[in-house]
Order: sequence, then C-alpha cells, then structure tokens
Amino acid sequence: MRGAATQAMSDVVEERQQRRCPPAAAPLRAAARRPAGIVARSSHTALGIARRSRLASGPGGLQQNANLFLREPLESAAASMNGFWYRKKRLYCEQVSVAKAAGTVGTPFYLYSQAALERNFQVFDSSFREIPHLTCYAIKANSNIAILRVFRSLGAGFDIVSGGELFRALKAGADPQKIVFSGVGKAQEEIDLALKHRILLFNVESAAEMKMLEERARSVRKVAQVSLRVNPDVDPRTHPYIATGLRQHKFGVPMEDAAELYRIASRSRHLRIGGIGCHIGSQITRLEPFVDAVKKLKGLVAALSASGIHIRHLDLGGGLGISYNDEDPPPPEAYAKAICEIVKDMECTVLLEPGRVIVGSAAILVTRVLLTKQNGSKNFIVVDAGMNDLLRPSLYGSYHAIQPERVNGRGLWKADVVGPVCESGDFLARDREIQIPKKGDLLAVMNAGAYGMVLASNYNSRPRAAEVIVKERRMKVIRRREGFIDLVRGEAVNPL
Ligand code: LLP
Repeated sequence: MRGAATQAMSDVVEERQQRRCPPAAAPLRAAARRPAGIVARSSHTALGIARRSRLASGPGGLQQNANLFLREPLESAAASMNGFWYRKKRLYCEQVSVAKAAGTVGTPFYLYSQAALERNFQVFDSSFREIPHLTCYAIKANSNIAILRVFRSLGAGFDIVSGGELFRALKAGADPQKIVFSGVGKAQEEIDLALKHRILLFNVESAAEMKMLEERARSVRKVAQVSLRVNPDVDPRTHPYIATGLRQHKFGVPMEDAAELYRIASRSRHLRIGGIGCHIGSQITRLEPFVDAVKKLKGLVAALSASGIHIRHLDLGGGLGISYNDEDPPPPEAYAKAICEIVKDMECTVLLEPGRVIVGSAAILVTRVLLTKQNGSKNFIVVDAGMNDLLRPSLYGSYHAIQPERVNGRGLWKADVVGPVCESGDFLARDREIQIPKKGDLLAVMNAGAYGMVLASNYNSRPRAAEVIVKERRMKVIRRREGFIDLVRGEAVNPL
C-alpha cells in the first residue's frame, strides 16, 4: 500500500503541448500597462459571468483577482498572471490542460501553479527589501510539504502553530533558525520538540505559557527565545471569525501587561527576550488597521527600551487579503511601503507571516458536475467536491469564483453549486450566474490555494482530494487522493 502511495506521489506526467504561451511568471503587457486596482469593462463579456473585472496585478505582478480572465478576450495571456488561463476555450494551468490533469488524477483535486506560488512569494518578500526582514510563510494556509519546499528554496522562514507544522517544515528542509512558533495553546510535547530543534522564536501569548516555556526550557537545559504576542486592540474589519486583534479575542496579551511579562522573562536563565509581535486578523483589505497596529507596537517597543528591555524582532503577523470577488486589497508593495515607513528607524528585524496572499490565488479546486436539478424555481449544480473539500463557503459564507473548464456558449444559469455532503450548508456558491453545465463538465473553484486543502476533512467518509502542482508543461501529484483504506486507518474493528 505504502509503495503504491509513494509511487503515486512521485508520478510525473509530461504534458505534450504543441503551442506555448508566455510562462506564467512573465510580466504581462496588457496587465502591466494598467496600475493596480483599475476597474475596466471587458471587451469580451460573452460569458457574462460577471460584467466587471479588476485588471489587477500589483506593480510587481502579484495576481489579485483570478476572476479576471473570463471577462478578458479568451486566450488572453493576462490570465496567466495567476497561472490559470484559457486557450481555445479550454482552461489551462500554465501549459497543462486542466481537463488532461483531471483525466490523469480524477476529481476533485487541487491544482497549483508553481510559477504563481514562486512569484507571489517573491513579490511579497522583495517588497520589504529596504529593511532587515524575514518572511515566515504561515504554514496553516497550505501545508503541503512540496509547497513548503518551493518557499524554502526561495529563502522563506516559516510560521508554525503546532508540532505537526514543525514536523512538516523540517520535512521540507526548513532552517529551524527561520521558524517562529505561534499559537495560543502550545502543548508540552510541542514546546519540547521546538526546543529540541532550537527554533528562532516562541510567540508567547500568556503568562501561563511563559511559565510553561520556562519550565520546559529549564528541564531540557535550553534557552528559549521569547517574543510576546500583544493584542493591539485594532479592528481589522474582516469576517468576525478571522479577526484576532481586539480585546475580546483569545489571542495575545494586553499591551499594558507586556513590560511585566518581559521582566519575568529577563529574570530567567532559560528565557531570552527575542521579540514582540501581533497578528490582527486575516483577509484584511485596508492598510489602516495594519498601520495602526504597527504604530502601537512601535510605541511599546520604545517604552520597553526606555525601561531597559530591548527588542530585536518585530513580528507583524500575516493578514493581507486577496481579491476573491470585488475586494480591492492593497498590493504587497503598498503594504510594505506603509510598514517600512513606520519601522525603518527601529533597530529590529521585521518578521512577516503571510499565508493567504502567497498561496491563495495560486490554486484552483477542480470538480466535476455530477448532475443538475431544479427544485421549483431553484437550480442546483451538484458537483463531486463538497464542504469537506473546501469549507470556506460553508464556514464563512466566502465567495469563490467558479469558472468552466470549457467555454461552451450554452448561456447562463443562476444556480447554487453544491456538493454531495448531507448538509444544507454544503455549497460552493449560492445564486451564482454560471455557464449552463451538463453532467461530466469540469468546473474550477478559483482562489482555493489558501485554507482550502488544509481545512479538508473526511466528513461523510469522503476520501480527501488529490493535490497536483504544475510547472510549465509538467505536472506532479504532490498528494495522492485518499482511498477508502485511508478512511479507516487507525480504527479498531472490534469494540470491547
Ligand atoms: N500568523 C498568525 C499568527 C495567524 O493566526 C495567521 C492566520 C497568519 C499568520 C496567516 O494569516 P494570512 O496571511 O493567511 O491572513 N481559515 C480562515 C483564515 C484563518 C486565519 C488564521 N490565522 C479563512 O479561510 O479565511
């Protein structure tokens, strides 16, 4: 069984495309001419799935809106900004046809563009080039080790929140001195593992955690570098489930408690004060909350310094949003500029923990239409991916654009795109204008790279989907599809 799995994992399938398009990483002339965030009417609205499109790419080329290509002339190279584009009315990931990939691995599956992953990381990281910094990719957004390895090879550090994520980072070859450990509740075994590997920083979120860290470090005769996660009480104006920097949230310690906690740390031979940090939330589409939080942290660092506590790392967390629908988040360059402006005279290395902005737009979830049905006036497209494959729409009411793999000219339908899971909350899209599909058609759920596969479950005893990465003409299965045997692994057949 294992042998077969390993074989499947390393299956490399060569796509033999005759024609080439510009590599996904190449800057696109059409998009490059327009500054970020410009809203344009498309000349090609035949599909009419949405009439307006932000031809958005940040100046550095980070793709912010994967919806754009349906409203662009088909075969426009602009689509390849995020690695996905149409050629002769068929959807491609870089040079690999989505239909062919589906034929090889079956559906549903997550499909990643390596060029988009690389470019997104590089655009983000290089935006901070004027200050000493380390970009610690937040593994929670997408933890596939092959993807971690892409970032590691580009010099990334990693933000982990569990022993499992530490294990993954190490498997991907991460340098422990580039790993920061976040999270409000770290277990003793997780702390011990991180101490053993001498990670860069423990982001400590409470007095109780500091005490536990000190005890563990003492018992294994190590020194833990501590960075306090403070709660700057800033409203990030995002979905309430993913806002974290307000007083009412479980995260961090109040700013006013920081000095006392650092004093406790400074008295221990097993703790070293390493930094200070915050993370105010996720999918934040405005600069102001970030600016407010960084300014508050800067004030606190100055006050601490005056009382003899010197901070070497300033961890600003993640949180920069992407455009799933019509959001207009600042490009990384603008985000970096705003932050650099505030921190450039501080003697700190800035740590960043982006997740979504790096992986979000670089993947689609490919699913097949099982059937269509009408209940009264309501249309349903039942597909083979459900809330167990992509939870975001059900959990947060999130919007993900859904594109046809093949443009068929059959006109539009308003329908709910739903999965097979036995829950009314199992939907990928509601009341969505979508090309009329027929059984067997493939659909692409866009912007599925962040908090997609990592939130997948086996609910309804559904094996989890495969993950596939594409680089130019080649594709590779980086996680094989689960089989039924995986569903029961670890279970005992006989009760007492
Ligand atoms: N650092 C810390 C401490 C975090 O808690 C998070 C995300 C990040 C960094 C990365 O944030 P990002 O750059 O990805 O926004 N499941 C939700 C998102 C939960 C975010 C949790 N923390 C979703 O699907 O929208």
